[in-house]
Amino acid sequence: MPLSKKPTLTQYLIEQRRRYPQASGELNALILDVSIACKAIARAVAFGELGDAMGGVAGGELNVQGEVQKRLDVVSNEMFMRITEWSGHLAGMASEEMEHPYPVPAPYPRGKYLLVFDPLDGSSNIDVNVSVGSIFSILRAPQEVVASGRDVVEADFLQPGATQVAAGYALYGPTTMFVLSVGNGVAGFTLDPNLGEFKLTHPDIRVPADTHEFAINSSNSRFWEPPVKRYVDECLAGRTGPRGKDFNMRWIASMVAEAHRILMRGGVFLYPRDTKDAAKPGRLRLLYEANPIGFLMEQAGGRASTGRQPVLGVKPGELHQRIGLVFGSMNEVERIERYHHEPATREAPNPLFVERSLFRD
Ligand code: AHG
Ligand code: MN
Ligand code: MN
Repeated sequence: MPLSKKPTLTQYLIEQRRRYPQASGELNALILDVSIACKAIARAVAFGELGDAMGGVAGGELNVQGEVQKRLDVVSNEMFMRITEWSGHLAGMASEEMEHPYPVPAPYPRGKYLLVFDPLDGSSNIDVNVSVGSIFSILRAPQEVVASGRDVVEADFLQPGATQVAAGYALYGPTTMFVLSVGNGVAGFTLDPNLGEFKLTHPDIRVPADTHEFAINSSNSRFWEPPVKRYVDECLAGRTGPRGKDFNMRWIASMVAEAHRILMRGGVFLYPRDTKDAAKPGRLRLLYEANPIGFLMEQAGGRASTGRQPVLGVKPGELHQRIGLVFGSMNEVERIERYHHEPATREAPNPLFVERSLFRD
């Protein structure tokens, strides 16, 4: 195969940094370390049952979410930690797989950033050879943490998604991709297996404002709130319903793969707040799932919402907080928000879509 002339991730980052002549290069170095962790995880995933990191449970352990940890969840978490902790760019990190934040330990120097990650998203899909990925978010450590050098604590991470410096994901699919935003649009890179380098293949990813494709786990429909039920009913009613067009549905059960599809061709994804478990206001986690994906969506001209407000504006209350999440094509997400805000007394356009206790929020 001829050597492609496409820029590498390193070249892309150097060019982005030229916009900020005073920048130290630490963010770039950190992102490159994250990309190395993702390459290592991609190899572990690619070996499947041939490798020793696959399938099964990690000694029957449950993570802080009460979910069974796969061996690959634990291995991926280790790869993120070991590859990023030594460089002096991080004050600490937090992950889906660790109950508490991890302050960078001695003898490594501490830096000015915080790294938050879901080392393996969609891990229930690894045994069936369906795409999984890693999601990451980079925040600034509070000034006082950097000045004092003290250990990071949970409160240091509780920053709204709008403060993210960079966010992205790797997708381990038929090709391995790395999708990134440093706050100047969204760029997608494909791993060149010959070189072991990420090459810029998708320089300016934009989410179309309109779509006829939606993704939701319909097995939860009896727990949905009325605005969500209304939205999905209207999509399902298709051309003869109030939307006047047919919709297509997708559900991979790997949010990172759904986000990627939406970045590539539009669509809307919903994992809304529901009534399934009063202790869980949503399924997905704010800090390392909703915020980084929300940042990418907004940077690509899409929208990300709790259903009620932009997800990036939410002030987190705890590290592993769950939240309702709706993201993708702008006009669909805005419509869903509108349905959440319309008054309870609204007259339904069609009796088919009238719900008992409609719009009770
Ligand atoms: P994780 O594998 O990191 O625990 O996340 C899985 C998430 C997300 O990727 C996906 O959209 C969702 O869980 C799937 O939920 P259902 O099992 O309800 O389909
Ligand atoms: Mn996840
Ligand atoms: Mn995970």
